[in-house]
Amino acid sequence: MRLVNMRYVEEGSILARPVMNSFGMILLQTGVILTASYIDRLKTLGYDVLFIQDDRLDDVEIHVAITTQTREVAYKSIELISKYLERDSKDALPIDNVRMSVRQMINDLLSSSDILGNLTEIQGYDDYTFHHSVKTTIISLILGIASGYSEQKLMELGMGVLMHDIGKIKVPEEILNKKTPLTEEEFGEIKRHTTYGFEILRKNNDLSLLSAHIAFQHQEKWDGTGYPRGLKGSGIHEYGRLAAIADVYEALTSKRVYRKAMEPNEAFEYIISQGNTHFDPKILEIFKRNIAVYPSGSGILLSNGQRGNVIKQNPAFPNRPFVRVFYENEEPLTAPIDYNLAHYPSIMVVSVENR
Ligand SMILES: [Fe+2]
Repeated sequence: MRLVNMRYVEEGSILARPVMNSFGMILLQTGVILTASYIDRLKTLGYDVLFIQDDRLDDVEIHVAITTQTREVAYKSIELISKYLERDSKDALPIDNVRMSVRQMINDLLSSSDILGNLTEIQGYDDYTFHHSVKTTIISLILGIASGYSEQKLMELGMGVLMHDIGKIKVPEEILNKKTPLTEEEFGEIKRHTTYGFEILRKNNDLSLLSAHIAFQHQEKWDGTGYPRGLKGSGIHEYGRLAAIADVYEALTSKRVYRKAMEPNEAFEYIISQGNTHFDPKILEIFKRNIAVYPSGSGILLSNGQRGNVIKQNPAFPNRPFVRVFYENEEPLTAPIDYNLAHYPSIMVVSVENR
């Protein structure tokens, strides 16, 4: 299968992975033959990439970070918490579901043969906050596992990250969804989602205080320029420093109503460029080695004029994957060529085109 930008999806193509909305509901099943009306509908809903079947790439295994079922449980757990908070109840939060879903995510990730998992999501315009929370949790757990965290630490981290933006419930929706520039006062209110979240979470006796601190600290920056307290360096708890990287990477690679998503490689470069200023350089090193820059299946153009797809990750060099090329200067090659980009340092990936 390969990843194809909606612009290049042709009628008659066969879906290789289901299209789901953020609530885990399947809109189109694997194996569906795409008609012009399906393609139009998906474009209207804001989907911009699909996994399409491709005989030439049949051997490519695309490891998904977590299963559809785990994702569904995670969405439901965060939805339950949100609904509960909207009712303004004084009882303790129903966090058992959150605990269960984080445990399931950890199990999925630990049993995956390929921790450089595929984070590519087929995402439309629907509920961004839930989608963001779940994906940020997956990225954080990958970083936690790579840092050698115990199961208990992974649980603390995962539960805190899954609920890190819960305080947004107390920020007026007009401010959260405002498309014109924010006034200073409005930005101040957005910043308070961190404190609100901490206040909500810290009251739960069965939630670690460190998890609550992730809501409080995920917007702090390594150089002290973040909020709400302007904490600096190791004054920010490690979970907060780790969540900050996952949070920004996820936000950049997700599309929003008002802007398109950055390609994973662009977002990766951006994050790396913020080392020492916004992010903890040590955690950034772990990020560099453990997040797939070019997800398997993606369509890439190389500096030697060849075009093809990523077929496998290279654990030692996440930015130098294995590729299979089919074209050279837009002319089809007589036979596809596979190579390991790590062996050809002079060849660069020029762009991710997903054709
Ligand atoms: Fe946030």
